Amino acid sequence: MTELDARQRVDSLRTEIERLNYEYYVLNSPSTDDFVYDKLMRELNELEQSFPELQSPHSPTMRVGSDILSEFVQVKHRYPMLSLENTYSKEEIDEFDRFVRKESGQQCSYVCELKFDGTAISLTYRHGALTQALTRGDGEQGDDVTANVRTIRSIPLILKGNDYPDEFEIRGEIFMPLTSFERLNVERTAKGLTPFANPRNAAAGTLKMLDSTEVAKRGLDCFLYFILGESLPFDKHFDNMSKAAEWGFKVSPNMQICADSSQIMSFLNRWESERRSLPCDTDGAVIKVNDYAVQRKLGLRAKSPRWAVAYKYKAEQARTVLVSIDYQVGRTGAITPVANLAPVQLGGTTVKRASLHNAEQIELHDIRVGDTVIVEKGGEIIPKVTGVDTELRPADSQALVYPSTCPECGARLIKEPSEAKHYCPNEAGCRPQIQGKIEHFVSRRAMNIDGVGEETAALLFNNGLIRDVADLYSLRKEQIMTLDRMGERSAERIIDGIAQSKQASFARLLYALGIRYVGETTAKKLVEAFHSLDAIIAAQPEELMQADEVGQRIADSIKAHFSDEANLRIINRLREAELQFEAETLPTSKLSDRLAGLSVVISGNFSVSRDEIKQLIEQHGGRNASGVSSKTDYLLAGDKIGPSKLQKAKQLGVKIITEAQLREMIS
Ligand code: IVH
Repeated sequence: MTELDARQRVDSLRTEIERLNYEYYVLNSPSTDDFVYDKLMRELNELEQSFPELQSPHSPTMRVGSDILSEFVQVKHRYPMLSLENTYSKEEIDEFDRFVRKESGQQCSYVCELKFDGTAISLTYRHGALTQALTRGDGEQGDDVTANVRTIRSIPLILKGNDYPDEFEIRGEIFMPLTSFERLNVERTAKGLTPFANPRNAAAGTLKMLDSTEVAKRGLDCFLYFILGESLPFDKHFDNMSKAAEWGFKVSPNMQICADSSQIMSFLNRWESERRSLPCDTDGAVIKVNDYAVQRKLGLRAKSPRWAVAYKYKAEQARTVLVSIDYQVGRTGAITPVANLAPVQLGGTTVKRASLHNAEQIELHDIRVGDTVIVEKGGEIIPKVTGVDTELRPADSQALVYPSTCPECGARLIKEPSEAKHYCPNEAGCRPQIQGKIEHFVSRRAMNIDGVGEETAALLFNNGLIRDVADLYSLRKEQIMTLDRMGERSAERIIDGIAQSKQASFARLLYALGIRYVGETTAKKLVEAFHSLDAIIAAQPEELMQADEVGQRIADSIKAHFSDEANLRIINRLREAELQFEAETLPTSKLSDRLAGLSVVISGNFSVSRDEIKQLIEQHGGRNASGVSSKTDYLLAGDKIGPSKLQKAKQLGVKIITEAQLREMIS
């Protein structure tokens, strides 16, 4: 086959496969079966392998996801991502309608939509191709999750038609369909992992996974509901969204134009029950002013538009008998009482268990075994007990006695006056706590062990290959290969990842140890103040409190952690494995004035940590700034630089330099 033939065939395969994707994932009406689809995909894959020059990030083969992503790069949103004010009643909807009419001085129409319960995403398209996907983050800047989003089949990589603007952003909600959610939780439970509490958490967690191959398997989906850009085809929300559907986006077919508040109310009433037959969770509706001119007139509040509101449906309730109570131990030792209920129908599912929160809540409502209790289903998949029908209380009922010992390990429970939950203090000997600690240790923000996620950590623990975090460092490849579905390659990757993690900074390690109340920031502050673990262990609580952000509670917790023999034994074994128990010593003294008066913004990854680069800039008299503005002198561009910073710098004519150039400037 000549390259020209190959190119033509590749083009037609891509068009055909994307058409099938669209039918299957957006329209939900496939015109062919999996067999045909797989055959086309295989042919395309083979051609791309034989003619690498034909590979393209926009090819449907790239949806499968291949590489392990490094940490997500944070990118500033071009337009901030706002949230919505909530309303809960007909009166509040009337009030919103009155407000809109008064402020705009006219009768105007609304678009009512369902409020999908997932995680917000902002997609950028340039010349009809998906170029970037950002999470909401803090509304100002979000994580670049493009590689993961590319695996979602209902999100077009290339748009259909040719009447889309050269550049625009489209926003929506990534969600996990209920069927995928249930399947995922069954799998997780079988592997000894904590199931996700609800589809929203599952969607958000999945989107932040480092391995997009794994993301591709989880069946995420996405509804788009908001479009932004300079040259949109229409001046009404509804018309533009309908147009977006023609370009290939999955836009909810249940959007509806409403002329006034009574039409809004009938939309809300209709969907109060009908929404339960949808394949995904919804927690309300959104009412938007349709006309952009009116939207502009109404303007924005600090965090939300004045031209839209959310309407939240009330949680559903049911009554049933409380049969017994289990006490679950979480990874930090916190105890959660869980009610076993006589099965009852609630929001389309049968409920048998519900959370009782903590001892105070039980006491407050005087909840007793044998009582008829009121169960509510809010946003969480696990319903909660919110009250008791005391009229139905059996005559022989007795007040509940909260346990005083841990149901898992028998240790005496502790209850701090300042905290709602009891907890088990037996950190080193209580099984669910040990597993939780290991999962925390390997996690991305902690030791970030390549190849060992929460799942693998649980697998290693449940198969008895590790009993604590120190055991990780004496694991052998052959041991790992005894596990189900673990080949030599995966085992090697795990061993390499663990070996590499020995280089993780002391601040990461300190956070990874999982000392109660010592979060990432506190760990950094402690490292800045004390430089080594020995110094921290030797410090008295008063000395610890000299560090930034360390108060009595944290200081006491640190002291308690290092007074525990079992913890010290683990630390000694980690020392033997040669992990970093000291801060890298970086000179803080002034080195030169070469960057005096210059403002530098850094973005992307460098040969050393970003903190080190920042320190270097300061040591040579420069100033670090967080966002590119007309006052910025240099944008220091690292690997995987945030595209919006780059673009802004270009627009403003800010000089863009590389790490090598910076080093030259100061040498
Ligand atoms: S519009 C400026 N429409 O709800 C308006 N949001 O509480 C931006 N959401 O952050 C949002 N369904 O993640 C809009 N049909 C819908 C929505 C929706 C779900 C989410 C979205 C937003 C949050 C606000």
